[in-house]
Amino acid sequence: MTADWQNAGFGLYLHWPFCASKCPYCDFNSHVSASIGVDAWQAAYLAQIDAWADRTQGRILNTVFFGGGTPSLMPASLVDAIMDRIRARWSLANDFEATLEANPTSVDASKFAAFRMAGINRVSLGIQALNNNDLRALGRMHDVDEALAAFDIARAAFDRVSFDLIYARQGQTLPMWEAELRRALDMAIDHLSLYQLTVEPGTVFAQRQARGGLRGLPGDDAAADMYDVTTDICRDYGFHGYEVSNYARPGSESQHNLIYWRYGDYIGIGPGAHGRITDLCGRRATEAPRDPAQWLAIAQNGYGCDEAPLSPIDCAQEYLMMSLRLTEGCDRVRLQAMIGSEFNGDALRDLVQMGMIECTDTHIRATPDGRLVLNAVVSKLFEDLQ
Ligand SMILES: C[S@@+](CC[C@H](N)C(=O)[O-])C[C@H]1O[C@@H](n2cnc3c(N)ncnc32)[C@H](O)[C@@H]1O
Ligand code: SF4
Repeated sequence: MTADWQNAGFGLYLHWPFCASKCPYCDFNSHVSASIGVDAWQAAYLAQIDAWADRTQGRILNTVFFGGGTPSLMPASLVDAIMDRIRARWSLANDFEATLEANPTSVDASKFAAFRMAGINRVSLGIQALNNNDLRALGRMHDVDEALAAFDIARAAFDRVSFDLIYARQGQTLPMWEAELRRALDMAIDHLSLYQLTVEPGTVFAQRQARGGLRGLPGDDAAADMYDVTTDICRDYGFHGYEVSNYARPGSESQHNLIYWRYGDYIGIGPGAHGRITDLCGRRATEAPRDPAQWLAIAQNGYGCDEAPLSPIDCAQEYLMMSLRLTEGCDRVRLQAMIGSEFNGDALRDLVQMGMIECTDTHIRATPDGRLVLNAVVSKLFEDLQ
């Protein structure tokens, strides 16, 4: 019998938790460290790859994603050793995708050439803003010229280079964002991640906001307008919004992130990494300790995370939550197989009537209005799973 994850593929996420400096808006598991014992990290990653490869023998690996933190700070020799071990332990898909996240401050041509030699074939660059004042306000260590130079270096080494921008920033108006987005699309190759600024609890931005110091953020309506024009302008340039914050030319979507959103299986290696793995007993959630030193201490022995079984209803909830982020939406046949009956309750009918959800014979999708309040839409749909 085909297991559900096989509808969506199998990926490996590897977390590098270090950055050159901590950005004031960021709540990722990222740390600034004066010294990093690279040999110990290499031993830990390789031990984890071996342990997971033993458990997933016979599978074909579709993707690997080096995320962070700032993986472009990893020594090229470490990326090379990890990629070597991955190739030794799994069969790779013909269209295997290997992405590495990069910060413009840590991009140099020889290192990028070495990443490519190691087998990386896609880079995601955190540019964030195309004007210097806003880059300073975001606490970034690079200016626009450095970001553009980094993009050129990345483009010279890789066919596939995506970059991230953060919008709905302090003082940003709709015309300002439109102009910035057009400039970004003029230089973009095939993929962009465009995130609305979120003030995450526990960050320096959250503290500043609590003191009344983070002035000039666009309100909800202005941010929603920015989201709408983002979708329209990207479409004019041939980039379709395939996920809430991701835009690509058809065929250039991030295959790794699609595995999350289509609810495939993925291994998570590194501090704080999450995974979803199906075995004979069903699907399991894995979560590694967030603290880098704690993770390092246990990971070298082959143990790297806590595991919890997911019930069919847990899986259905997660599948709904992830797949409704996608324009293609949720596959009704898969959802039905998870819960053992048709998914067709009162909450779904209400949301369709309210114009938040649309249904076809094969899929359930969030409408553009529904996407603006996706968390509320998904919580409402959960009522039909009880
Ligand atoms: C791990 S970082 C990317 C690579 C690298 N660390 C960097 O910042 O250049 C992932 C992306 O998440 C986005 N991001 C992080 N915190 C955010 C926030 N609070 N609001 C919106 N986007 C955020 C940024 O666009 C960032 O590039
Ligand atoms: S945004 Fe990127 S560079 Fe900045 S702290 Fe977060 S992970 Fe590090």
